[in-house]
Amino acid sequence: MISKPYHPASGAPAASGRIDPRLPVLIPGSRCVVLAPMEDVSDSPFRQMCREQGADVVYTEFISSEAIIRDSDASKHKMAFEESERPLGIQIFGGREEAMHGAAKIAEASNPDLVDINFGCPVYKVVKKNAGSACLRDIGMMERMAGTVVDATSLPVTVKTRLGWDDNTIRIREVALMLQSAGVKALTVHARTRSQGYKGEARWEYFKYLKDTPGLHIPLIANGDITTPEHARHLFEESGVDGIMIGRAAIGNPWIFRDIHHYLDTGELLPAPTIEERMQMCARQLRASVEHHGERFGVIMMKKHYGNYIKGIRNGKYLRMEIMEKERMEDILELLLNFREEPETRIAV
Ligand SMILES: Cc1cc2nc3c(=O)[nH]c(=O)nc-3n(C[C@H](O)[C@H](O)[C@H](O)COP(=O)(O)O)c2cc1C
Repeated sequence: MISKPYHPASGAPAASGRIDPRLPVLIPGSRCVVLAPMEDVSDSPFRQMCREQGADVVYTEFISSEAIIRDSDASKHKMAFEESERPLGIQIFGGREEAMHGAAKIAEASNPDLVDINFGCPVYKVVKKNAGSACLRDIGMMERMAGTVVDATSLPVTVKTRLGWDDNTIRIREVALMLQSAGVKALTVHARTRSQGYKGEARWEYFKYLKDTPGLHIPLIANGDITTPEHARHLFEESGVDGIMIGRAAIGNPWIFRDIHHYLDTGELLPAPTIEERMQMCARQLRASVEHHGERFGVIMMKKHYGNYIKGIRNGKYLRMEIMEKERMEDILELLLNFREEPETRIAV
């Protein structure tokens, strides 16, 4: 459906069923740019668009290990992907070792390139089941959970976590070394604590601190508030991280991967996409979303993306309001593809 992935860091995607040994997140110093796992955002259509625009690796949203071992339809749908998305990681979470073990095996059977463990989700309903960032309060439990997943699968296992539970429990160096010993092959750190949620700024100073950890050699992927090509260069040059992961800044802006790679390669900033390009891309994503989820959910899933596709356009607010009221794909496509920005109004003096 969406073709020709642009894939600077690792060449063409792996052929069907073959694990690409050059997985960029596993290569120290690869400077890969990765799409973050985001619930109800990082679905297959969006991942395809990001790969096409230069994301070197993509991850599914987190999928409950309990739902996976129950064989739930929703979890099967979340694990489904197209070949053009490779390299792709399936992210799992949970608070029970048996469930994580079983889920890792089932995830492997879907034939992704990586299995990722979520040790960072701050949401209460996840944490109260000892999953996500809850493991930051109990590093022994995190170690057992990581070991269980590593044992369950022959695929490389990566981890995504936060700095700590709160400011008093930032033990990220110890956590990184422990995960490395447990067999984890790369680590992504969202540079906030669990108690910070999404507030304040991501604390990038911890990336250099982590890279300077004696004995730590698995790749470190930096995450949190990376929104521009200049941020990317700063993190690669000043902090020495091996990769960066982009979340919110990619929503409605899959071009960010192309922009970052171009800037890293040439030092030039590319011009922003035109309004027509934005409307066309948004329309393509909507069509792909409906093809993947069916019309009702396909239209609903797109609601998180319109805001950024339309951001900064003069009469965009009204377009967005109209789109949000529509339930049929054809009606939304008509609005998007016929949209023209209002001319700038000048006040006569
Ligand atoms: C809507 C949304 C959903 C998210 N879902 C997940 C998830 O499923 N798994 C995960 O590890 N992180 C999840 N995150 C966290 C992001 O992966 C990322 O760590 C965070 O947004 C910080 O990066 P950013 O500043 O580039 O957005 C989510 C974030 C957002 C905004």
